[in-house]
Amino acid sequence: MAQIVLGMALSHTPQMHTPPEQWRLRIAADERNPAHHFRGRTYTWPELLALRSPEGLDRFLSLQEKTQRLTRANAAVERLAAIYRDVRPDIAVIIGNDQHELYVEDLMPAMTIYWGEEVHNCPARDDQAQRMPAGIHLAEAGHAPPQALVHPGHPALGRHLIEHVIAEGFDVAHSQWMREADQRISFSTGAPHAFGFVYRNIMADRVIPHVPVILNTFYPPNQPTARRCHAFGQALGRAIRAWPGDARVAIFGSGGLSHFVIDEDFDRAFLSAIVQGDACHLTQLDERLLQAGTSECKNWIAAAGALEGAGLQAELIDQVACYRSPAGTGTGTGFVCWR
Ligand SMILES: [Fe+2]
Repeated sequence: MAQIVLGMALSHTPQMHTPPEQWRLRIAADERNPAHHFRGRTYTWPELLALRSPEGLDRFLSLQEKTQRLTRANAAVERLAAIYRDVRPDIAVIIGNDQHELYVEDLMPAMTIYWGEEVHNCPARDDQAQRMPAGIHLAEAGHAPPQALVHPGHPALGRHLIEHVIAEGFDVAHSQWMREADQRISFSTGAPHAFGFVYRNIMADRVIPHVPVILNTFYPPNQPTARRCHAFGQALGRAIRAWPGDARVAIFGSGGLSHFVIDEDFDRAFLSAIVQGDACHLTQLDERLLQAGTSECKNWIAAAGALEGAGLQAELIDQVACYRSPAGTGTGTGFVCWR
């Protein structure tokens, strides 16, 4: 039977591939955002600024401080990459989300298992790059290669996972090819950046046969709940362990933590629950807390479910809050490994 030998959960923000001098490019978008999610409520930019000004977040905004935090976050990723090279898994199951890269509002599946032969990861075309919000395209190297690459999927494992979770009551969507760049799909360039970040930064573009599992964490109204994501992850874990053969499998959860408004208390409690395997905390999280970028924590929750019972030990590698504004916008990053 297959053995789960490695688990990793990591943030995948473009901020980690943006020089700190340029982090301010995203503030223009922050100012325009009419609904910043923070602690279960939404705020306009002036409201958010007023709310958070007593925290004195300015102290985290010097170039030196931002550089130091960026260095620490990237060192955590490098540490994960070194562990990955050391463990050398045969195959992977990567749980991530889509941000209008594969799916738009013509059809938005809540949960998808991709079981195609090929996984494409391509740089954005010029016209796509021009349509991106300020400060996004310059971080492209963090998740897309300079030239298009084709990575191996794992159709047999993918189909096995689909059949297994269907039998357990999860009516997943399936997909065997990734959409070509399409005018209606904002940024379609093959695999979403949640996956590209793992290909580039953990696997150094030498991607092993793998199954992408795509959760709609972001877009209302059909986001699966935290509880459902955890149960789905548990079913995936059982399916992987029931896979015949002696493959050594790695499971990834890509995304999070709190963003685009950072909440370090939320992140600390979440990381602690992840490391301790506290399913109660993870499954009872208020859905209002899991909106916008923070919704990507559901990829971790599913990964944690899949890793339950694998007999691996979780280790917190680091937690680094990368603030870009005095209103607390930016990305709360976190990195966890199960060995
Ligand atoms: Fe993302």
